[in-house]
Amino acid sequence: SSKMESITDILHQLFHTAICAAFPDITDPPVVIAVAASNPKFGDYQCNSAMPIANIYKQSGKKVTPRNLAQKILDNLPSHPMVEKCEIAGPGFINIFLNRDYAVKKLQAIFQNGVQPPTVERKKIIIDFSSPNIAKEMHVGHLRSTIIGETIARLLEFLNFEVHRINHIGDWGTQFGMLIAHLQDRFPDHLEKMPPISDLQSFYKEAKERFDEDEEFKKRAYDSVVKLQSFEPKHIKAWKLICDVSRKEFQKIYDRLDITLKERGESFYQTRTEKIVKELEEAGFLENDDGRKIMWGDESTTVPFTIVKSDGGFTYDSSDMAAIKHRLQEEKADWVIYVVDSGQATHFQILFACAKKAGILDPKKHRVDFVGFGVVLGEDKKKFKTRSGDSIRLVDLLDKGLEKALDKLKEKGRDKVLTPDELKRAQESVAYGCIKYADLSHNRNHEYIFSFDKMLEDKGNTAVYLLYAFTRIRSIARTANFTPEKIKELSKKENISLEHEKEWKLGKVLLRFPDEILKTLNDLYPHHICEYVYEIATTFTEFYDSCYCVEKDSSGDIVKAEATAMIMEKCFHILGLKPVEKM
Ligand code: ARG
Repeated sequence: SSKMESITDILHQLFHTAICAAFPDITDPPVVIAVAASNPKFGDYQCNSAMPIANIYKQSGKKVTPRNLAQKILDNLPSHPMVEKCEIAGPGFINIFLNRDYAVKKLQAIFQNGVQPPTVERKKIIIDFSSPNIAKEMHVGHLRSTIIGETIARLLEFLNFEVHRINHIGDWGTQFGMLIAHLQDRFPDHLEKMPPISDLQSFYKEAKERFDEDEEFKKRAYDSVVKLQSFEPKHIKAWKLICDVSRKEFQKIYDRLDITLKERGESFYQTRTEKIVKELEEAGFLENDDGRKIMWGDESTTVPFTIVKSDGGFTYDSSDMAAIKHRLQEEKADWVIYVVDSGQATHFQILFACAKKAGILDPKKHRVDFVGFGVVLGEDKKKFKTRSGDSIRLVDLLDKGLEKALDKLKEKGRDKVLTPDELKRAQESVAYGCIKYADLSHNRNHEYIFSFDKMLEDKGNTAVYLLYAFTRIRSIARTANFTPEKIKELSKKENISLEHEKEWKLGKVLLRFPDEILKTLNDLYPHHICEYVYEIATTFTEFYDSCYCVEKDSSGDIVKAEATAMIMEKCFHILGLKPVEKM
């Protein structure tokens, strides 16, 4: 086929066939494929199945040596154009050497078809990410969800899944009671003309203070919640108005960071929540607990969901039950992904368990994932806050990023080389790129320290290093006056050499693209792609330093540089990095 394919998948199939034929008496034999260590002697990939198979035989009292088993595997291995040869080494490792002509053909395919995704079965996927709360701060935790969610959505879209990006905003909590009551007092004419609330944050603070101090106000706030929840038109109007102010603020962040989302907040599920609560009740899943109605998950969960509060109100738990039902049963999604901070891991564990119990989630049919992430810390390793102890506003953070990125570019003297327009584009690319990349390149389970100085470094696995590396690689062809058409033409001829050790190393890294994509699809850890694209950049540099030379006919090298750039560009797109032509 004229497409890049997953090397490990192909090897897995080949060795699975061989192992099953060699050892028909073992059911489900282990097939262990790994990328070989960088010493070329050990081949390019390895099959390490002989040892575990020997153990299986030993357990049943048979005397075997892994080396002999390895030989039996090779005797049964079907031939494939991708595999040049195999060798047995050490106690029974099988070293696999890839065929270079095959590799050349796969690189050529990139120029004919572009960088294509590996083939996967099409699925409908709902991804719930960002999901801030109205009138409350959209904080760095939501920023992490936004960045990680956007990248996972882009990865899934690249793989041609049907992806629905859902913003599950908190727009229906009890906080609206005091907000509406405060709005009525502060802006009595709000139903006629839009009140000038620019800072919802301090509006919220004012309302909260009154709520805590003034009994009469508190009572009115409670009344307002009841009226809102029974959809009283004036209250609905006031509620919409408050949501609009928040929505505009959120959208500013999304626009700057290139985030696409469809809003479907908690309020969307209100009538569905009423319905599902009734269903759960009738099916006997609810238990009375001191006036609350609770539902237990399974053995793995130690706390129940609160489905109905003692005052009769619904909760975050009940609206998530309604939402998962809507997603799996009404929308008929095959897969639902929730990108939410790890603090909510238990909530989602209970949600999935309760949904299974209620017959909403069928593990044989559906996949659900909780994509958690650790907290963002300040440079003092404490919770990320401003000096005065307030949480940091995201707009201020992005502005700070722009400022720091410009400093960095000036430090490199770029302001003297670039036009003002180019400088601005480079500034935005660096600022937003470094914020996203710092987040994505850390294992999402870990907490990470937010430091502009660290993320703006131009050495190591950083956005700045990668953006520069990419620009340099792209400029190789431009400097040599090679147009894309010319490169495409050249790529058809058999002049992409992969003979030199460094050329081969580069070729093999590029060929791993489908594997890296599938690995990330499998476990939803975007840092795999960051590590991969960094490896591409460093491997390219090694190749360039030892092979590229202006005097010789370098057309084959230019083709390799362009293939490298094309794959990097695809990774950048998934990671939300926007390279610029000049920086
Ligand atoms: N609004 C919630 C929060 O800020 C996150 C919602 C996540 N999505 C969900 N379906 N529960 O904590």
